[in-house]
Amino acid sequence: MGKVFITGATGFVGRYVVNLLLEKGYEVHAGVRNLGKLKELFKDRVKVYPVDFSSRDSLKRVLEPLKPDFIIHLIGILYQEPGKGITFYRVHTLFSKNLIEVAKEVGVKKLAHMSALGTDDLAPSVYHQTKRWAEKALIESGLNYTIFRPSLILGPEQRLFKDMDQITKVLPVVALPGGGSYRFQPVDVRDVACAFVGALEDTSTDRKTFELCGDEEVSFKRLLEDTFGLMGRRVLMLPMPRKVMFWTAKVVEKLLEPPPLSSDQMLMMWKDNVCSCNGVGAVCKREPIPYRESIRWAVEGYLSGGS
Ligand SMILES: NC(=O)c1ccc[n+]([C@@H]2O[C@H](COP(=O)([O-])OP(=O)(O)OC[C@H]3O[C@@H](n4cnc5c(N)ncnc54)[C@H](OP(=O)(O)O)[C@@H]3O)[C@@H](O)[C@H]2O)c1
Repeated sequence: MGKVFITGATGFVGRYVVNLLLEKGYEVHAGVRNLGKLKELFKDRVKVYPVDFSSRDSLKRVLEPLKPDFIIHLIGILYQEPGKGITFYRVHTLFSKNLIEVAKEVGVKKLAHMSALGTDDLAPSVYHQTKRWAEKALIESGLNYTIFRPSLILGPEQRLFKDMDQITKVLPVVALPGGGSYRFQPVDVRDVACAFVGALEDTSTDRKTFELCGDEEVSFKRLLEDTFGLMGRRVLMLPMPRKVMFWTAKVVEKLLEPPPLSSDQMLMMWKDNVCSCNGVGAVCKREPIPYRESIRWAVEGYLSGGS
């Protein structure tokens, strides 16, 4: 088992990936901006390094002496905070390009990269565009890689549960963009972790991109019905045209940072978020965890303080 350098270890997905790496016997080194948060999560089971991902020199100072065998790159954001200089381009594209360049210099065996389902040259959202540019930089770099594009990821720490819980505590009403017909194929975070860790030493995944999904396609409406059902909460769901939601989000994001829903998130719904070919089976060598089991585990975990 080798040495893994991971980014985004303090996030929702990162925690599961790190725990699985440790379970499999990897030596885990995390580059973070928040040392305290990482230490709180993993104590001294993970070696931690402060990194400014916008600086190649900062990355070099860590990676040159460390010489990791593998890199797992998870950093990503759902909304921009222009007031703080946090943009999709900076976090998704620039950070990735810097990491790829330094990874090449230090000669890692593979970089496992987090993208997202819906990432495409034609995608209208800046989230997906900047994820695509990062994918292209990696593919063209000459480094060995595996790219993953998950649909919505389910786990107790999924932000949607907290947002829906907080919004409907005040007023038990939510707006459904486009009547909530937009479809996801939610994937369990334990499957995502399994794919990232499994890909490191599986040469059949070299230089490939995998979509990650669960076993069921569900509409946004059904996802919310299941979530509120498991929370034991009665909520009125009001269909709302997408254009109205988009322009409302445009106004709200000028007033609130971070916004509860961004206009870019509305553009992310440019096409259904479902897999054409599910990579969970190919990488984990088993069926994905069923949606019904996953949503129950995730919401119950959220309610019992898992997030
Ligand atoms: N959640 C989903 O449903 C989903 C679906 C598809 C793809 N993805 C992708 O999966 C990845 C992980 O998502 P997640 O749900 O785990 O997100 P998350 O909980 O918000 O975690 C994001 C991670 O990125 C780090 N990060 C963000 N901005 C940073 C910055 N400016 N400098 C350094 N670190 C920064 C965060 O560090 P701090 O802890 O210091 O904030 C955290 O470790 C992202 O790339 C996301 O786009 C997620």
